Amino acid sequence: MNSSPITHLRHVGIAVPDYEPAVEFNRGVWGLTPVADDDGVSFFAAEASPEQYILRVRRAPEKRLDLIAFGAEDAASVDALAERLIAAEVRIEREPGELDTPGGGYGLRFFDPEGRLIEISSDVEQRAARPLEPRESIPRRLSHVVINSVDILNTKAFYERHLGFRLSDWLEDKMCFMRTRADHHILAISSGPHVALNHISFEMRGIDEYMRGSGRLIRHGHRPLWGPGRHGAGDNTFTYFLDPNGNVVEYTTELEKIVDDDTWVPRRFEATPEEADQWGTAGLITDAMIPAMFNEPDKGLWTPAPL
Ligand SMILES: [Fe+2]
Repeated sequence: MNSSPITHLRHVGIAVPDYEPAVEFNRGVWGLTPVADDDGVSFFAAEASPEQYILRVRRAPEKRLDLIAFGAEDAASVDALAERLIAAEVRIEREPGELDTPGGGYGLRFFDPEGRLIEISSDVEQRAARPLEPRESIPRRLSHVVINSVDILNTKAFYERHLGFRLSDWLEDKMCFMRTRADHHILAISSGPHVALNHISFEMRGIDEYMRGSGRLIRHGHRPLWGPGRHGAGDNTFTYFLDPNGNVVEYTTELEKIVDDDTWVPRRFEATPEEADQWGTAGLITDAMIPAMFNEPDKGLWTPAPL
């Protein structure tokens, strides 16, 4: 039985000081589709995703994670969740109500225990999506988001207790992979020196398209931070790049599905070359990668996003 009210990851919002390069990167070499542009905020869809947008980029003097948005089954689930959060004295930023972002819908916003803004919504109008063609190497949809936490156990407990996330696997005691449905993870929590965005991951159509996309980035001068390779935990492929504002973004595909939820026993993976990089193509974790994934301390904690 699925007990989580959360169906999927909808979108991630970031605020960036280098706005124009961010817009150019995402609609250019990264392969997203601009769908709306609202005076310093750009919304990007993935061609094959019915989400109105999977990424929003806002111009701001300081870099921050604006919000992480998850989908819920219906308005009743949003209301029930709000009641539980209020009873648990979670800091609510916006009571359940109509959303004024593209696609509308019904949602609420609250802060997680480290001050990240989280939105849960239902009834958002869908966008006309189309299947990607073979060899079409643009993102199909959002895969997952990874956050850096200074208290990984407490953050994990919050997402389990209040949002019904379940643990899929551990990577040592440094990262836990969390699911609400069959996807091995839509959220992962990584232990870090400060609270920050770790990376945003975009799913490609298949291995061929993932490799073609990775190659397009390389041809345009974007050296992978790590990859191409295939992880142990989640069994997904990975190529990590830095975006123009120093956030890490990932192309992935073939993320593991957990079909029999009730019998799943979380595993513990080690960060050995064999388990972190099954194919042996990615090489060792580089000195540049860890600080890039730690990112800068988030400037927007406990602060509502302006939209
Ligand atoms: Fe990832």
